[in-house]
Amino acid sequence: MINTVQPIKHTLKGSLRIPGDKSISHRAVLFASLAEGESRIYGFLHGEDCLSTISCMKDLGIDIQEKHDYIYVEGKGLHGLREPENVLDAGNSGTTIRLLSGILAGQDFSSVLVGDASIAKRPMGRVTGPLKMMNAKVDGRAYGSYTPLHIRGGSLKAIDYLSPVASAQVKSSILLAGLYARGETKVTEPFKSRDHTERMLETFGVSLGITDRSASVTGGQSLKGTEIHVPGDISSAAFMLVAGAIVPGSEIILENVGMNPTRTGIIDVLEQMGADLTVNNRRHLGGEPVADLTICYSSLSSVTIDGDLIPRLIDEIPAIAVLATQAEGTTVIKNAEELKVKETNRIDTVVYQLKKLGASIEPTEDGMIIHGKTGLHGETVESYGDHRIGMAMALCGLISSTPVTVKDTEAIAVSYPSFFNNLAYLSGE
Ligand code: S3P
Repeated sequence: MINTVQPIKHTLKGSLRIPGDKSISHRAVLFASLAEGESRIYGFLHGEDCLSTISCMKDLGIDIQEKHDYIYVEGKGLHGLREPENVLDAGNSGTTIRLLSGILAGQDFSSVLVGDASIAKRPMGRVTGPLKMMNAKVDGRAYGSYTPLHIRGGSLKAIDYLSPVASAQVKSSILLAGLYARGETKVTEPFKSRDHTERMLETFGVSLGITDRSASVTGGQSLKGTEIHVPGDISSAAFMLVAGAIVPGSEIILENVGMNPTRTGIIDVLEQMGADLTVNNRRHLGGEPVADLTICYSSLSSVTIDGDLIPRLIDEIPAIAVLATQAEGTTVIKNAEELKVKETNRIDTVVYQLKKLGASIEPTEDGMIIHGKTGLHGETVESYGDHRIGMAMALCGLISSTPVTVKDTEAIAVSYPSFFNNLAYLSGE
């Protein structure tokens, strides 16, 4: 699919309810499958990635049904999964394949995990390495460093793991395997990554040990079926926040946005840049904080983004790069080498496509440098099948002098299927 985004004639105005959080939706389906009894998931994200998780869990014998306004999951307990007859296909979803690997490490049966061409390039050793330390038998290309992965699990031993990366997928995979291990499994990270797994396991009745940069779980604890309410995804909201901040005269209200502090780096950056952002109606939904956000256009100034801020906004960097092209001064993003192993190498894909549109941007070893403020012009750009690159490029079209055409935009359905409809609504079309 190809989409052409026309420069906005007037402003962006209106109120939106952002679709459900991708990270939380995956976890809700996975944990509900392992729980005893029924669970209901409200606000589930019907994006391609989360549908891949549903399809894998169905292949593992779980009854999952789409009801009127919730997803029904009949959990079978920690040991209720059945050996799949076919390969499990995670599609484009790193969260599916990495979290599921942790669960499969605890199963005394054989399973094979595959994904699409992007997944085939992404590192799996960061997860399969520690799972092997726990005694799971894992193999795959380059001894289990890349898909396809073959996992035969069973009696696991607990580990105390010092992760070299701040990654919630790694942490979650090990903690899930830890549910099947004897003793206490602990993961310590260089910086705290998103903590949805810890919060949601607690909602399912599991007790965890949590410190600043570590989480631990004692094996053998059962999960109890429950009701989960998924907040709006701040990573999707980020694109609309950037749109509101860069299109002159705009005023956008985003309702029910997840405000988990391990995810709100984008809010900090907008505030530091001088954006006109208001956070209203802070409340809790399930175990997660949420709020309504109002963003209005304003002039912006550059920032430096590094250190422990990086894991709190890693998925928002493509959107932030667009924002930085419209900020006065030089924005520096560093310590973000994880960008290289996302759906695409997002240092390269962001920099090269933004350059095509006239941005003054350079790649660095661990991030990028953006000089603003620059006018952008129309061009045909690639998304490389990466949902967040596709959305970032589309935002450029709103403020460019001529239309921007974005290729392979079907990928946007991975996390934000209604993205173009929402943009059209805000622009009054
Ligand atoms: C996710 C964790 C992050 C993030 C990804 C979703 C999760 O990846 O980039 O989009 O749901 O746990 P890493 O764990 O690799 O940092």
